[in-house]
Amino acid sequence: MAFSLICPTKDPTPWVTAIKATNPDIDLRVWPEDGDKTDITFALVWAQPQGIFAQYPNLQVIASMGAGVDNLLQDASIPTQATLVRMVDPRLVSQMGDYVLAATLNHMRQFPTYAQQQQQHQWQPLQPRNIDEVTVGVMGLGQIGSAVAARLVQTGFQVVGWSRRAKSTTNVQVFSGQQLTDFLAASEILICLLPLTSETQNILNSDTLGQLPPGAYLINVARGNHLVEEDLLSLLNNNHLSGACLDVFRQEPLPQEHPFWAHPKVTITPHIASLTDPVSVAPQIVENYRRMQAGQPLLNQVNRQRGY
Ligand code: NAP
Ligand code: GLV
Repeated sequence: MAFSLICPTKDPTPWVTAIKATNPDIDLRVWPEDGDKTDITFALVWAQPQGIFAQYPNLQVIASMGAGVDNLLQDASIPTQATLVRMVDPRLVSQMGDYVLAATLNHMRQFPTYAQQQQQHQWQPLQPRNIDEVTVGVMGLGQIGSAVAARLVQTGFQVVGWSRRAKSTTNVQVFSGQQLTDFLAASEILICLLPLTSETQNILNSDTLGQLPPGAYLINVARGNHLVEEDLLSLLNNNHLSGACLDVFRQEPLPQEHPFWAHPKVTITPHIASLTDPVSVAPQIVENYRRMQAGQPLLNQVNRQRGY
């Protein structure tokens, strides 16, 4: 039994250090120099070359380095017998809360407009809205979305949420499934924290975004393929939406010629809303490796049928 780290777009060093510090006895290898691939039973992956799992005939567990598993599930080479797991981690949750709060308050206090005014040496006070008069909608009330919703409630916003199944969350009005229209109509600031699945891809489009109240603001911190980018541009340009803060894009890095870069109503960050901290997640990775060896149920399993 051996462990391979397959992360072509990330530096593997901090991961190796954190995993070795937690259990120095693991036979830990780093792709592409991971030796005899028939030894590998556990793979920790991010942005793996598609099709690569076909090279590993004895894989039992594939762990995503992040919370999202869409890239993994799109890979037809995942063995049917492999169990997929993902990261569920308090630091991942709290960093996302920080980002969403910063983006929400940035919009509420009109910092992007003041930045433009500063460029023109313009002194023009604007009337702020009061937090308790603004309703924020959180799409996806899972590990991250429910904690983000709680943080927004704590800050004083009115909060509504939308999930697949009905649920109750303290001080959050929860809509589910078919109640999307009612949820959207209430959301003056919309935050997407859905997993990317066949049901949720392109869910942020002219129809759904058009159902937001006039002047609404979008924060997409989930996946680029949730958003139909041309539809957002139309709704920004016809002033139905007041702006957007985007951390994720259909193509990453965002191409140089993309209209979002220079759009006055768009704030861009390079997929950094919440970054997995190897030290924080190493214990759950090592525990899952131990459970695999012992034939025990794994932590944070992904439901492959559901897609998240
Ligand atoms: P999670 O725990 O799996 O929660 C997913 C939530 O979405 C659940 O509430 C689920 O509803 C809801 N949902 C799924 N399909 C739905 C549908 N068709 N209609 C309505 N609701 C639906 O996921 P998480 O850990 O919170 O992470 C969410 C996503 O955040 C990840 O998949 C990833 O893409 C993204 N993310 C981004 C960054 C970044 O840096 N930008 C960092 C971390 C994560 P139920 O509760 O009814 O199951
Ligand atoms: C980051 O995008 C993650 O899914 O953790």
